[in-house]
Amino acid sequence: LQIIQAKYTASAVRKDQYPTEGLPEIAFLGRSNVGKSSLINSLCGQRGLARVSGAPGKTQTINYFNVTLQEKTDAEEQRTPLFFVDLPGYGFAKTGGKNRQLWSHFIGEYITGSPNLSLLFLLVDLRHPGLDIDLQAYRWLADNEVPLQIIGTKADKLGRNDRSRNLAAVKRLFPAAFPPIAYSSLKQDGKNELLHMVYEALYE
Ligand code: GTP
Ligand code: MG
Repeated sequence: LQIIQAKYTASAVRKDQYPTEGLPEIAFLGRSNVGKSSLINSLCGQRGLARVSGAPGKTQTINYFNVTLQEKTDAEEQRTPLFFVDLPGYGFAKTGGKNRQLWSHFIGEYITGSPNLSLLFLLVDLRHPGLDIDLQAYRWLADNEVPLQIIGTKADKLGRNDRSRNLAAVKRLFPAAFPPIAYSSLKQDGKNELLHMVYEALYE
């Protein structure tokens, strides 16, 4: 399985700005700076496809990338067009104060209102499993019955033992999701596993 083509298609903050192609969508959600845009670039093998930054709050709109997933067997080649959807991060206080919302209204509207959402990848920093804000996001998603796969990001920053221990913790803390996958955009660890989940979501 590999992504053979990827290009930026559209940005949206309202329903009438969503693309109308009707392609299946795989969305990427998580705390600001957790590595959503980097993950998309890494899966697509294109460094500058989605904008990445060391400072949180880089992605501010719902960004659609048209990608082609190719499955190659000895007998045939199958190509599937779909959208990767990069979402703004949550948990980064621009306005401070106590009544801060988990995320902007338009993010929730996309998650519950997009008819083509096949699977949502919820990214959590593998070094910090079970942060309150991630559990809060998880509960909202589980309550809304969003098909959910957890990705533990920045796995390259952990040794082998911490990696498997924290992955087990994530599995325990996010029970309604598919078993978590550890990922490193830096080293491309977890890429096959992740593309496999994309494929399964499209064809199950
Ligand atoms: P927002 O758009 O602000 O919500 O952030 P984001 O989740 O899209 O994060 P982004 O991909 O912009 O990455 C944030 C920072 O983390 C950047 O400095 C990346 O280089 C770094 N980063 C992302 N993934 C990895 C990874 O797998 N390993 C390491 N070591 N650093 C990573
Ligand atoms: Mg981003």
